[in-house]
Amino acid sequence: MGYGRVVHTADRIIGSRQLAALLPAEVLARPGYRALADALRTLVLDGRVALHVRLPAERELAEAVGASRATVTGAYDLLRESGYVRSRRGSGTWTELPDGHAPVGAHALLGAGGQGAGDDPGIDLAIAAMGAPEDALTDALAWAAPRLPALARTPGYHPFGLPDLRAAVAERFTRRGLPTRPEQILVTAGAQQAFSLVVSLLCRPGDRVLTESPTYANALDALRHARLRTGSIAVSDAGWDMEIAESTLRQTVPRLAYTIPDFQNPTGALMPPEQRLRLLAATRATGTWLVVDETIADIALDVPAPPPFASLAPRGGADHVITIGSLSKTHWGGLRAGWIRATAKMVTELTAVKVAADMTCSVLDQLLALPLIAGLDRSLPARLAQLRIQREALVRSLQRHTPEWSWQPQPGGLSLWVDLGEPVSSALSERAAAAGVHIGRGARFGVDPGTFEHRLRIPYTLPADRLDEGVRRLASAFHDGIPLTPAVDRPHWVA
Ligand SMILES: Cc1ncc(COP(=O)(O)O)c(C=O)c1O
Repeated sequence: MGYGRVVHTADRIIGSRQLAALLPAEVLARPGYRALADALRTLVLDGRVALHVRLPAERELAEAVGASRATVTGAYDLLRESGYVRSRRGSGTWTELPDGHAPVGAHALLGAGGQGAGDDPGIDLAIAAMGAPEDALTDALAWAAPRLPALARTPGYHPFGLPDLRAAVAERFTRRGLPTRPEQILVTAGAQQAFSLVVSLLCRPGDRVLTESPTYANALDALRHARLRTGSIAVSDAGWDMEIAESTLRQTVPRLAYTIPDFQNPTGALMPPEQRLRLLAATRATGTWLVVDETIADIALDVPAPPPFASLAPRGGADHVITIGSLSKTHWGGLRAGWIRATAKMVTELTAVKVAADMTCSVLDQLLALPLIAGLDRSLPARLAQLRIQREALVRSLQRHTPEWSWQPQPGGLSLWVDLGEPVSSALSERAAAAGVHIGRGARFGVDPGTFEHRLRIPYTLPADRLDEGVRRLASAFHDGIPLTPAVDRPHWVA
């Protein structure tokens, strides 16, 4: 039902020829999905097509107006998103008015499996993450099951995180070269929550923060929601511009700086050790908190995984460094298991912020995370091997379907930061959505509006055949002969 209101299904049916006859000649002459959606919306608003009338199936309407099925699918998608039609499997698509319609949900934007219109599940290139490694998850469940009853006899609130999990995360940092005590770890519901908690503890509206540009889109959103003033350090195909970073730090003295030094999202770039040392020293000199996001650090495809960033600091020189990470890329984003490493004092303060936000993490997720972390070094090679194969497949597909696009090969990460050669990324992602491909347009990763319009982030986290089909559809959207124009700014969800 949703939103406590009566859900109508269709009262009547309109045939495809009947509907086509109502459409303006210019739409019939050149039936693009947006023009078709506009015309159908006008028919509903003018009352020429009544409410609760079932629209023709996509294939039938496509035939009647001389358009591709994808065009009609795209038009129906747009109408659905703006509340002018509703669909239900088995009942078809019928007209509605948007008054009180459900907000555009994540799955409508993500197009995750089975959510696309008609029987096309869509191809989700907006998410740079894989499904869970099945064997590791099954083993973790078997390990966790007999241990749950003892925990279930307690109230289940562990604001700092399960003690064993804190110890396991600390032990892994120590093994990777950064001595860490369990008191220095706060368990979080993923790295995104880790970042939000740090921002809410350390920053007040109007504070200056420094991020890379491009950078992880949801981190940018967290900074915007906290009403912070964001400056940027450029990350290009040549890497970080550390000279500019140092002078921006000196001139603006930001409260906090955010970096993704390992296989940066979205570029895939790896920060060289000497630049790490410079960033450590520069942030220390300005008294800027340095948040290091190591969520992707283990996705090291062509080089050994780098040691923790904070381990490079001279003894006692890393107290201003806050490290965040999670199991989302090595294992599964559906398991909300992440962490913050900081001084024990700051961990205590961050825990108070977490309690105010959501009390505590799920005991079940934490229990599963324990064996997954313990077995990480055993399970990772297979995941990395799969990613290498998929990266190769994506490269082949791009070379075949869009030889004019280019990218800088990078030693790890989950996506290619593709240069389209023209500033049409938003328009292309809109058009691709109509063809069932959901993808993060370049501007989504830029600090300043309108930047990275010539870039598209293409993850290689799907099987090769889905990647090829996705690139084929992107290429045909790119090459379809009608110039790509700037698109309206609708929310795009990426991860
Ligand atoms: C750099 C970076 N940080 C944080 C996250 C969020 O991860 P989580 O699922 O752990 O919240 C992601 C996920 O895409 C990411 O790429």
